[in-house]
Amino acid sequence: MKGIVLAGGSGTRLYPITKVYSKQLTIIYDKPLIYYPLSILMLGGIKDILIVSNKETIPMYQLLFGDGSHLGLSISYVLQPAPNGIAESFILGEQFIGNDNVTLVLGDNIFYGQLDFFYNALRRKNGATIFGYRVNDPERYGVVDFDKNGKALSIEEKPKQPKSNYAVPGLYVYDNRVVDISKNMKPSPRGELEITDVNNFYLNEGNLNVEKIGRGVAWLDTGTPEALLQASNFFGVIEDRQGLKVACIEEIAYTMKFIDRTQYERVIDGIPRSAYRTYLERILHEE
Ligand code: G1P
Repeated sequence: MKGIVLAGGSGTRLYPITKVYSKQLTIIYDKPLIYYPLSILMLGGIKDILIVSNKETIPMYQLLFGDGSHLGLSISYVLQPAPNGIAESFILGEQFIGNDNVTLVLGDNIFYGQLDFFYNALRRKNGATIFGYRVNDPERYGVVDFDKNGKALSIEEKPKQPKSNYAVPGLYVYDNRVVDISKNMKPSPRGELEITDVNNFYLNEGNLNVEKIGRGVAWLDTGTPEALLQASNFFGVIEDRQGLKVACIEEIAYTMKFIDRTQYERVIDGIPRSAYRTYLERILHEE
């Protein structure tokens, strides 16, 4: 399984925050936003990761993650020259994906809690799996409608009159056919290759699984200043209460055994004296 993080886009809704740097680099409590979706791929055991972004931001991700080898990852980067839609990631990532299946996570999507919904999806070899999460404001998202038996009937992108309260989060698990399907897609009226069109293709074929994510999982929005503050507060509360960090990629690399103790110590050596470093050291001593 390969993993893609789509972290481009212009983020104009967050102006002026996004005037100088990308939305996925904004800070959620104590780390850049992109750490959260990246950590979801890592928790799914995915080590081969492609970051899709624009030319201004790729160098900054390179500064943050390099080639990922210090974390036992292989991270590569590809340029999305213009915001041509989410599904374009699969075309830009064709070589990277090769013959594998692929999980896509949007670089501004945060999940927190029990991830069984994701682990189950990763076990399926064929078709696509997307998720449904109940929200108050479904019109801002892709919206999935279910019949009485919980079978998905339709997926609509930002409908004015949503047929349900179930939004489709930015985490998608596909078989290898997604590359060809995306290549044959036509841009939508707003000029983008829509992920919703890809999902509808799988749905019409009968190859789309839509799993509801339970209320015990948090899927947080990061689209507005209020949402950024709420997300920061949320993780501030959790991290402070438990004394454990969320989306700490170095810790995850170690606990997932992507790196051994010596490699982990080397990673710590490269981190300046900070609360973050003290935390990573503590994990070592608390084992
Ligand atoms: C995109 C997708 C939408 C999905 C959302 C999740 O919307 O088009 O279907 O529900 O991500 O974050 P965007 O954030 O590009 O408006």
